[in-house]
Amino acid sequence: MARRPLVVGNWKMNCTRATAQQLLADLLAGLPTDAKAQVGVCPAYVFIPELGAMLAGKTIALGAQNVADQDQGAFTGEISAPMLKEFGCAYAIVGHSERRLVYGETNALVAARYAKAIEHGITPIFCVGETLEEREQDKTFAVIDEQLQAVLDLCGVASLSQAVIAYEPVWAIGTGRTATTEQAQEVHAYIRAQIAKLDAEVAEGLQILYGGSVKADNAAALFGMPDVDGGLVGGASLDAKSFLAICLAA
Ligand code: G3H
Repeated sequence: MARRPLVVGNWKMNCTRATAQQLLADLLAGLPTDAKAQVGVCPAYVFIPELGAMLAGKTIALGAQNVADQDQGAFTGEISAPMLKEFGCAYAIVGHSERRLVYGETNALVAARYAKAIEHGITPIFCVGETLEEREQDKTFAVIDEQLQAVLDLCGVASLSQAVIAYEPVWAIGTGRTATTEQAQEVHAYIRAQIAKLDAEVAEGLQILYGGSVKADNAAALFGMPDVDGGLVGGASLDAKSFLAICLAA
């Protein structure tokens, strides 16, 4: 089964209202309508309504950078899946390492967020990945097993047919130190093999993105690996020219 490449820009806590609109306008103007890759952007929540309006009827998909583990109620600071859906979000990142490591989100909480996205028809971009210390201690696969297992326990393997996984080695995020193509492929193949033990068809169809210092000059090599189905791009997604070059490399 041929998997369509997917490239998603995670804008993180960047842009002003004006620069967010300009960046999206530049992407809309520059992305060929027949691009091979599906392309998405995940701006900060406050920009979602305006950018969602700009994207109506366009080929670039809108996503959020997180999603609540509840539908509504007294959960200060959270944004729910039904709210995101109302504003046209097709994707929501869950379990980004910045959420896990800076804000203490556990595997259980990430799985609950993932479950809410699935329940409301939003595709979770489920992030997994090890820290440098974990890699140096040969714990990469064990860490990824635990991160995956929390989602499998709560939602089952079939849910992965409505999800995307992003492998993001923490040591490669925002550091300029990209994983080698072999390092990325090794972990992507491992993730796919683990899923295949449970459901071969789901594993074959699953888009597994690489994230961590993806740039215009390394994207083609990374995306050329058999189990790398695109990228989750941080810093380089804030520059339209760079991001478009990455999208076209997929
Ligand atoms: O979500 C994106 C990743 O954290 C990668 O960020 O491309 O700036 O390394 P980066």
